[in-house]
Amino acid sequence: MTRFTAPMLAATLALWATSAAAQEATGEAIYDYCQSCHGKRGEGGEGGKYPRIAGLPQSYVDKQLHDFKEQRRINKPMIPIFKHHRFDDDVIATVSAYIADMGVPDLALWPNDPDPEAVAAYESRGAFTEAGARKYADGCSGCHGETAAGDPLAGVPPLVDQYPAYLRKQLADFATDTRRHRDSAACADIAPGEAEAVIDYLVELGK
Ligand code: HEC
Ligand code: HEC
Repeated sequence: MTRFTAPMLAATLALWATSAAAQEATGEAIYDYCQSCHGKRGEGGEGGKYPRIAGLPQSYVDKQLHDFKEQRRINKPMIPIFKHHRFDDDVIATVSAYIADMGVPDLALWPNDPDPEAVAAYESRGAFTEAGARKYADGCSGCHGETAAGDPLAGVPPLVDQYPAYLRKQLADFATDTRRHRDSAACADIAPGEAEAVIDYLVELGK
């Protein structure tokens, strides 16, 4: 994966402004802005610093991009993108549809390698995953679904096929109110050790 640099982004922005000025930008052309971080196939990278976005529901992606743009959800690396005057509702809708149509790439997340300290709080590795399954069933599956496939119509994202490091950061952001949404109190209703167990179970579900 190409590492993102500011000059690269500036060059892409300039290219888009000239080449696309005469025509409607396609999802593919807009996605050029994104692939330096999220990868050519939307697979994300750097161990989950950049999330997998391929195949996420269109309505969810659309909402996140508006949240980033209005800085309701803080995402510093993406702020320059939204400074571009062309990044309006239509462009957001077009790129969201393009991303939703991308096939979900295999991230080879299984087997998970959890923090030994989190596992040590339980009797065994099996008991750890089992506790994650129970917590997930009690607190999360009602919205995210039994197989953690999400619920596109309700704006709930899938939690499988996503990097543990990214999920961990989101749960920490919910817990500290750094990321807030309609149901974030429910997503944050989990102790840090428990979060590790739920993430372990999610990797198990997605294998
Ligand atoms: C400079 C790097 C960078 C670029 C370029 C970038 N992103 Fe991101 N993106 C990120 C990071 C980092 C996150 C995770 C933010 C967080 O931790 O909450 C993210 C998160 C997202 C998410 C949220 C995923 C989720 O599961 O909630 C979406 C959707 C997204 N980006 C779409 C895009 C699109 C579309 C583009 C191109 C128009 C783009 N990104 C360009 C760095 C980037
Ligand atoms: C009442 C419904 C509800 C419950 C219960 C719930 N969530 Fe969520 N969750 C959501 C919604 C809706 C979103 C997307 C919010 C947004 O638009 O940013 C979300 C987002 C997330 C995300 C961010 C995913 C991403 O791609 O960025 C994570 C991680 C998450 N939830 C984990 C959990 C966990 C773990 C639990 C159980 C402890 C849980 N949630 C319980 C509704 C729920």
